[in-house]
Amino acid sequence: MRKWTLLGMLYLCLMSAAVAQEVHMVKLPPPDMHGGKPLMQALQARHSTREFSVKALPQQELSNLLWAAAGVNRPQSGQRTAPSARDWREIDVYVAMADGVYLYEPVGHALRRVVAGDLRARTGVQDFVATAALNLIYVANLDRMSGADAEQRDFYSATDSGFIAQNVYLYCASAGLGTVVRGSVDREALAAALGLKPQQKIILAQSVGYPK
Ligand SMILES: Cc1cc2nc3c(=O)[nH]c(=O)nc-3n(C[C@H](O)[C@H](O)[C@H](O)COP(=O)(O)O)c2cc1C
Repeated sequence: MRKWTLLGMLYLCLMSAAVAQEVHMVKLPPPDMHGGKPLMQALQARHSTREFSVKALPQQELSNLLWAAAGVNRPQSGQRTAPSARDWREIDVYVAMADGVYLYEPVGHALRRVVAGDLRARTGVQDFVATAALNLIYVANLDRMSGADAEQRDFYSATDSGFIAQNVYLYCASAGLGTVVRGSVDREALAAALGLKPQQKIILAQSVGYPK
């Protein structure tokens, strides 16, 4: 009897390891709160960049960037570095990198891979998107916008994406990275590539990388 219990436990362990491998998670290091240019200098440096080096971002840089974009800055309430209308927190940040597209999970400060493979070229219509270290995709989950009519959903998902995009602009300016927010996206094709649901709407994309 005891032997069967042990075998059962071993089987469960192997199964959960297999599931963990399938759900590819990247736990990010905590964001570094001390580096970077002061805010006024970052504002002075903020601009759009459309020429990127192919160099990937180190994990610490990726951690800082995503935390600045939409990370949790008040753990008690789970509220974020960017404001959101009615605290809906409806914008999900997807990250397209060379090895796959990941969903940023602010609680837990981690990345969960949703699609394997390099989809960077499909996040926009300009050539540089294929080689920028990463492209962020801001996706509104309309199911979270309870009580909003269609016009409010459009308006607030656009404003809330804009706040995240500006956080990214300021972080990049502060850290010496290049970035450009982009409205020119083939949303239908990208939504299909990401396997988005009908209630998930792509608002904007934003390329980030080291400037050339
Ligand atoms: C909502 C929005 C959409 C944009 N879409 C694109 C785009 O698709 N491609 C692009 O190269 N730049 C895009 N931009 C960047 C603007 O062209 C850029 O901000 C503008 O030229 C001013 O330059 P600056 O950001 O350096 O001040 C967009 C900016 C905003 C705010």
